[in-house]
Amino acid sequence: MTKIKVAVAGVGNCCSAFVQGIQYYNDGEATGLIHETLGGYSVSDIELVAAFDIDRRKVGLDLADAILSDPNKTLRITEMRSLGIKVQMGPIGDSLENSGVGLIDASSEEPVDVTEALKASGAHVLVNMISGSALEASRQYAEAALEAGCAFLNAAPSPVVNDGDIAERFREAGVPVAGDDLLDQIGATVTHIALLEFLHSRGAKIEESYQLDVGGGAESVNTLWKTRELKRDIKTTAVGTSVPYDFPLVSGSTDYVDFLGNQRESFFWFKGSYFGGAPFAMDVKLNTVDAPNAGSILLDVVRGLKIASDKGLAGPVEPICAYGFKRPPERVELAEAYGLFRSLVGD
Ligand SMILES: NC(=O)c1ccc[n+]([C@@H]2O[C@H](COP(=O)([O-])OP(=O)(O)OC[C@H]3O[C@@H](n4cnc5c(N)ncnc54)[C@H](O)[C@@H]3O)[C@@H](O)[C@H]2O)c1
Repeated sequence: MTKIKVAVAGVGNCCSAFVQGIQYYNDGEATGLIHETLGGYSVSDIELVAAFDIDRRKVGLDLADAILSDPNKTLRITEMRSLGIKVQMGPIGDSLENSGVGLIDASSEEPVDVTEALKASGAHVLVNMISGSALEASRQYAEAALEAGCAFLNAAPSPVVNDGDIAERFREAGVPVAGDDLLDQIGATVTHIALLEFLHSRGAKIEESYQLDVGGGAESVNTLWKTRELKRDIKTTAVGTSVPYDFPLVSGSTDYVDFLGNQRESFFWFKGSYFGGAPFAMDVKLNTVDAPNAGSILLDVVRGLKIASDKGLAGPVEPICAYGFKRPPERVELAEAYGLFRSLVGD
């Protein structure tokens, strides 16, 4: 089996969990993964080959050190060994104008040519984990992947799969792409969808529901000040199709509490009726660490994209988008998305 060569853009908290997770699961752990193997690929078949960031605290460092540098503050999953991959200076695009309260301390290094760097590294997949507010910079990474013939995984909420023009160009170039906005393993959006699907499947009539978050990571600042409407729209739309009728529904992040660090508190509320019109109300609170919530899905989607490439698929790969993202081209129920993904990967 060939190795899956992976490049990462954005060496923040999400990237930290992903990179640590690759070493952790390579060292023989299995608990916490959704799939140990997918289409014959295990986590040990994933090889990191390149990394890009724009923050002076990360650019020039070995990726193993950069993921632990400020302002990253997610969980230490494992004691990292050196990776021999230097973080390269990426294009700044709109990352500074849109970054919440100066969280990025920009490096003065000249940006590299990302297309050339991807080609030189032999990357099969570029994983975009840059700040959610940097829509133009995300697009620049997507363009670079397209030119390099490298599959693109858009974990950020910026529209790539949902940008008709660029999605079509991936299709024409014969390069697969998956996005937008990663759906976490047990995050707030997927939990909200699952609870709504459950209530509906048990015959309950849902009359009102909301899901609100409080977090302390840089991405919570971005969501609060820069991408509130985009995130709320993505999440509410993702959740809204869980039941086949409309009702008052809000789903979206609300506030930033710095001492929470990378922790996220998610509050859910449901009100409705069931047999004979009897009323019910449900309050749920979920506490998670944000970045590791992306890890298992990222490992699945990276392997899914390599399998899609091996099969000659191009453009937005719908089974991967439906399984791993909040804003796929077409939304289906969670179980159906899981089934479509499993059919694609052939397990
Ligand atoms: N559970 C999760 O972590 C999760 C789930 C869904 C989506 N996402 C998305 O993943 C992305 C990363 O989330 P995070 O919590 O790690 O954020 P973060 O703020 O911790 O990290 C973002 C990183 O991107 C870097 N960056 C910004 N602009 C850049 C550019 N032009 N080139 C290269 N690097 C750049 C920053 O310096 C920082 O290191 C966000 O878009 C977020 O919405 C994360």
